[in-house]
Amino acid sequence: MNIILNVNGEQRPLSIEPRVTLLDALRERLGLVGSKKGCDHGQCGACTVLIDGQRVYSCLSLAVMQEDKKIVTIEGLATGDTLHPMQTAFIENDGFQCGYCTPGQICASVALLEEVKRGCASAVTSDLNTPPQLVELSDAEIKERLSGNLCRCSAYNGIVAAVQQAIGQKPPSPMANVMVSESQGILA
Ligand code: FES
Ligand code: FES
Repeated sequence: MNIILNVNGEQRPLSIEPRVTLLDALRERLGLVGSKKGCDHGQCGACTVLIDGQRVYSCLSLAVMQEDKKIVTIEGLATGDTLHPMQTAFIENDGFQCGYCTPGQICASVALLEEVKRGCASAVTSDLNTPPQLVELSDAEIKERLSGNLCRCSAYNGIVAAVQQAIGQKPPSPMANVMVSESQGILA
């Protein structure tokens, strides 16, 4: 099939079979290898991209379904040499180690912010009639809302701190967390 995908603001023509996933189209056909293939069946979130502003596992979506939609990958978040605020926050809060899950984590975090702004509740929202605003978003809310993105390096403290910084909260220092854990004998 001949299709045209709108990726990171560019029209990208493709000739592909209907069975090709969006992830494979991005990585193998368009050379956008920022989106990662972790599990290839919807369990890790490494392939997360934004489609019309919503986060989507690109390994579970067919490329031919995405014509006429705006696809944004990790490569499309920065503006020239200026990183997206979420990318900056991940760097400043040690939100990654090996980096394999990071593109998906950042895309999911960008979408998380928009979901909260729209008033979306999560599984841990106590009052569904008054979902939390960004300024009051708790650790538990952030963790739950990012629970579809796994990090095998377990950089979760830094990831939560990065989201807190991006939404204007004062994040705890990841090093402070380590020191607290050590003082409590949690890390031997
Ligand atoms: S590669 Fe898509 S969810 Fe794991
Ligand atoms: S930083 Fe290595 S898997 Fe997340």
